[in-house]
Amino acid sequence: MVALLRLVKPYWIRVLGIIASSLVVSGSTAAMAGAIKYYIDDVLIKGDAFFMAMLPFAFVGLFIAKGVFMFFQTYLSRATGLKIIRDIRTRLYNHIVSMPLGFFHKNPSGSLISRLLNDAQNLQGNLIDIAKGIFVEGFTVIALLGVAFWRRWDLALITIVVLPVSFYGVRRLVKRIKSVARGSQVRISNLTDVMTETFGAMKIIKAFLLEGERKSAFEDENRNHYRLEMKSGRLSAFVSLLMDVVAGAGIGFIIWYGGYLASHGQMTPGDFTSYIAATMLVFTPMKRLAEVQAKVYQAMAAYERIIGVLNQPQEQFGTIELPQIRKRIEFDNVRLRYEGVENDALGGVSLSVRYGEMIAFVGQSGAGKTSLVDLIPRFFRPTSGRILIDGQDTTEATLSSLRRQIGLVSQEIILFDDTVANNIAMGRPGASRDEIIAAAKAANAHDFIIELPGGYETRIGERGVMLSGGQRQRISIARALLKNPPILILDEATSALDTASEIAVQSALENLMENRTTFVIAHRLSTVRRADRIVVMERGKIIESGTHDELIARGGAYAGLHRVQLR
Ligand SMILES: Nc1ncnc2c1ncn2[C@@H]1O[C@H](COP(=O)(O)OP(=O)(O)OP(=O)(O)O)[C@@H](O)[C@H]1O
Ligand SMILES: [Mg+2]
Repeated sequence: MVALLRLVKPYWIRVLGIIASSLVVSGSTAAMAGAIKYYIDDVLIKGDAFFMAMLPFAFVGLFIAKGVFMFFQTYLSRATGLKIIRDIRTRLYNHIVSMPLGFFHKNPSGSLISRLLNDAQNLQGNLIDIAKGIFVEGFTVIALLGVAFWRRWDLALITIVVLPVSFYGVRRLVKRIKSVARGSQVRISNLTDVMTETFGAMKIIKAFLLEGERKSAFEDENRNHYRLEMKSGRLSAFVSLLMDVVAGAGIGFIIWYGGYLASHGQMTPGDFTSYIAATMLVFTPMKRLAEVQAKVYQAMAAYERIIGVLNQPQEQFGTIELPQIRKRIEFDNVRLRYEGVENDALGGVSLSVRYGEMIAFVGQSGAGKTSLVDLIPRFFRPTSGRILIDGQDTTEATLSSLRRQIGLVSQEIILFDDTVANNIAMGRPGASRDEIIAAAKAANAHDFIIELPGGYETRIGERGVMLSGGQRQRISIARALLKNPPILILDEATSALDTASEIAVQSALENLMENRTTFVIAHRLSTVRRADRIVVMERGKIIESGTHDELIARGGAYAGLHRVQLR
């Protein structure tokens, strides 16, 4: 609750406007109930000319005032709700983007999307309802009860005895709605998870005939969601029903007692009608007021889930501006264990790489090659040990001074649904067309790009689906080359190329490797042959290192791999 108030705080001027308009709206409603007395006692019974002339205008005025201020109230609360949600969405999105990579392994994109879309939407809808409930309905209830008390306090007292009873029943139901509401939000994110996973993997789904399975996975989640929504719907409908029953009984009694008082001359018909009008009018707002609690719970549930993400720490970086690398990168006894995994992915790796060196990593799948190079840009924090650039622990370096120096062609090629030129230019925003073309040429990509229907302006579809695997790879190499970083990481960067293209890209890369440190991961040993040093990894450890010739002469693991590949 306090958290929700804090959320609204920056908009307090608008909230004051909402409160002021609500006061006018509820004041007009109460005034109408009050004015009925004069209509009955003075106009209908006594035939008073002044009231007869004035009351119609008074009613018209009251209706107009109510309508106009209701408009302001609705407009202001909607605008405020939308602003709050716009701000919280931006905050949440920005926060998520700055989370460490491990966060995205734990949180499927479906649930993150659900936080951003559904929870934010729910929060907004509920905040608007809450504002209306508390201010408009709340004030109206108070004002109408005031009129009722003024007309006939003993009857009014009976009315408000009925209320606590109904509130008690409602409160218990609301508690259950709260837990059901949590559940249905969880389910909608399960639904988005199934969808994002399915749509992102259509090729495999079709190849392995998994359509049926994906359909039933979706159906199951969809059914669960339906059930929970129904349950929540039933409960809220039941709350309304309960309130109506209680209200009906109360009103029956009041009509009987009021009739008794009026017929015994203890009350004027105007007083009684005005009292009845106030009491009848009070029930709808009261019912809505009772629903506010459920809305508050729903809003809080949505807000808690949003805050749950916002409270998770972002990528941690230091404050030291790392100067451009000049001497070496050192791994100092680095261990890495991914969260929630039993075994170390890297078990104490020490390695010193000279500036300008081309170092290659080979080894079985799962040996820890990607894990090792991922530590250089600090995608993950080592569980222990340090990574030093020119003697400076990279933990203390700022994010930009470190990553600015690194170019990466990752194992899974990542392209955006944009033009070829823009995908390459991501390496260095603001690069000229000539520079883009030069990078594409170096990556042996220029020739195929100019044959695309739109040349460099061709859009390549989501994740680059309109290109072949090798074409995608060359674009991502061009992107890394355009950045022209002193440290270049190529994780299986040429694995999808045919031998001829690979040799072409390879020789281009070799020219570019002058004056930079290059980490190359490759399964194809022909790729790594010319490296200054080859490091062989196994189960998270370095088991051999040396030049190609040295390792062959040694007759160890590398020589074994070499023999197998020659066959
Ligand atoms: N995000 C992750 N969470 C948990 N475990 C992981 C994660 N990424 C990798 N691993 C594990 O760490 C180990 C090393 O993986 P890594 O990706 O570094 O291997 P690799 O040598 O690059 O293999 P490949 O040649 O197949 O790319 C593997 O056992 C893998 O299961
Ligand atoms: Mg790998």
